[in-house]
Amino acid sequence: MPHGSTLIVLFWQLAHAWNSSICMHAAEVEIRNAPEKSQMFVTTSHLYKRHLAEYFCGMGGNMTALELGVYHGHTTAVLAAIFRRVISVDIEKEYLEVASKNAAAHSNVIFLSMDLMADDWTIFSTNQVSVGIIDANHHYEYVMADAQNALRHLPHLQYLVFDDYHEEEVERAVTELEEAGVLVECQGIGNGWNGSPWEFQDWDPGSGQQFKRWTTQSEGRICKRSPARAGWKTLPGFVNKRFFVYRQPLTHLCQAGVFRFLANGTLLTSWESGGGSWQAAASTTREDLLILKLPGLLSSELELIFNSGRTAFMLSEVGSSRADWFGIYDQLVNRPFQIASSLF
Ligand SMILES: C[S@@+](CC[C@H](N)C(=O)[O-])C[C@H]1O[C@@H](n2cnc3c(N)ncnc32)[C@H](O)[C@@H]1O
Repeated sequence: MPHGSTLIVLFWQLAHAWNSSICMHAAEVEIRNAPEKSQMFVTTSHLYKRHLAEYFCGMGGNMTALELGVYHGHTTAVLAAIFRRVISVDIEKEYLEVASKNAAAHSNVIFLSMDLMADDWTIFSTNQVSVGIIDANHHYEYVMADAQNALRHLPHLQYLVFDDYHEEEVERAVTELEEAGVLVECQGIGNGWNGSPWEFQDWDPGSGQQFKRWTTQSEGRICKRSPARAGWKTLPGFVNKRFFVYRQPLTHLCQAGVFRFLANGTLLTSWESGGGSWQAAASTTREDLLILKLPGLLSSELELIFNSGRTAFMLSEVGSSRADWFGIYDQLVNRPFQIASSLF
């Protein structure tokens, strides 16, 4: 006769297997409803969706997932079958309307219209998000910003999932996070998960022309957030971003230049006088204060003060009480134009 505690373990294992198989079944229904990647290349493949279900069914019932980049919601519907709650974000309201119809069978999805690059991520902080699915803009700067924001603003985050890992810029961002030890135990999912070749739709950014290409890199990648590096400091929020710089006083909105702060302390500018360097001000622990050197422009140092969100700055000569320049994150400038033009 099995001992009492053995019975409890057996019962728990049975209940777990039962829940997992219900979850797999519900996910499979949504996978069959979704178009294959060959019919709609923007969405993930059936295999990717199935691998997500195999990985998370059994534990997702207690978790909240945050999906970044929704399109028509075909992956959303699968996530809704796996996780207790799904928060799905896209910049395009029309896509969210289509997605909400495609995931209408599920009442556990919250759709949010938001620009991940310009809007405030702190709205997610209190939602106990365990899993982030990164599938919005696939350029390096955007993937890295989404991952860094997830790591910075989601205190309960345990997993990050990336789509289109076979794209060079996505792979570069994920590899850097793996090499930094922030993401661990990563594994391929979807097409090419085991290194076998698969054909995907590519395009030439110059001509906009689409063509097919073969790869052996996996379509997606699931990683765990390293508990050992939970306190790992993400790069300062202003690094790798583009700032438009305006001469003060702001009498007209014509930019005088563009700044980009690289992680290694280099400051790139659009000015003919060249770039320079940045460093945290040594005399203080304030993280919003930088010292800039722009030797082609000025022999003296400049002092830069960021706002609390690191989305804008004032720039002045050291010791001067007057700010000669004002800088603002380019996405904040573009956002009102995007919103207004989406209303035509
Ligand atoms: C590759 S599609 C997502 C596909 C979807 N996950 C699926 O599997 O069917 C990328 C989506 O990201 C959205 N997107 C791009 N840039 C964004 C941004 N800055 N903020 C929010 N969404 C963005 C696009 O509107 C698009 O719907």
